[in-house]
Amino acid sequence: MLILTSTSPEETMEIGGILSQCLLPGDLVNLGGTLGAGKTLFVKGVGQGLGIDPGVVTSPTFSIINEYEGTKFPLYHFDLYRLESDLDLEQVGFEDYFYGSGITVVEWGDLFTHYLPQDRLDICLKSSAPNERTLSIVGHGERGRQVEEKLRGLFPCTF
Ligand SMILES: Nc1ncnc2c1ncn2[C@@H]1O[C@H](COP(=O)(O)OP(=O)(O)OP(=O)(O)O)[C@@H](O)[C@H]1O
Ligand SMILES: [Mg+2]
Repeated sequence: MLILTSTSPEETMEIGGILSQCLLPGDLVNLGGTLGAGKTLFVKGVGQGLGIDPGVVTSPTFSIINEYEGTKFPLYHFDLYRLESDLDLEQVGFEDYFYGSGITVVEWGDLFTHYLPQDRLDICLKSSAPNERTLSIVGHGERGRQVEEKLRGLFPCTF
């Protein structure tokens, strides 16, 4: 597990940007943790790293999925918080995204873990002080662990 601390909204975005440099088409990142911890801000940072204006990246709470073109790869941004059933997720055709040719970031993926790919990066964001967030990052499967290691290499001062 890689544990990072962010002390500002900007720093959370920056960490998202750094993660984007470790990702390849087909990768999936599952964002969990507490309400309002900074998941959407984190995705804005990932988007910025992929050449997407962070101003256009907004929470897909109602649309379930927002798709962004990017200059590197497409970004598929899900928010599963309001989804009520497996059927709702099946109706948006999630498999085309989760196993597609872009980068998928899922807010509240833990609510539907049975649909998440084995290979993925789980990030749990928790508020540790008013402006401080702790990010606990764990890669699953061969590819997930590869991404975790690559990210660890970009934060050499952490454990
Ligand atoms: N270090 C920090 N990192 C991220 N956000 C922070 C930080 N400090 C304060 N904040 C504030 O926390 C809020 C995070 O909002 P954001 O919408 O990104 O959270 P979220 O996890 O996506 O929420 P939700 O659970 O509703 O989807 C923003 O208002 C932001 O300014
Ligand atoms: Mg959000």
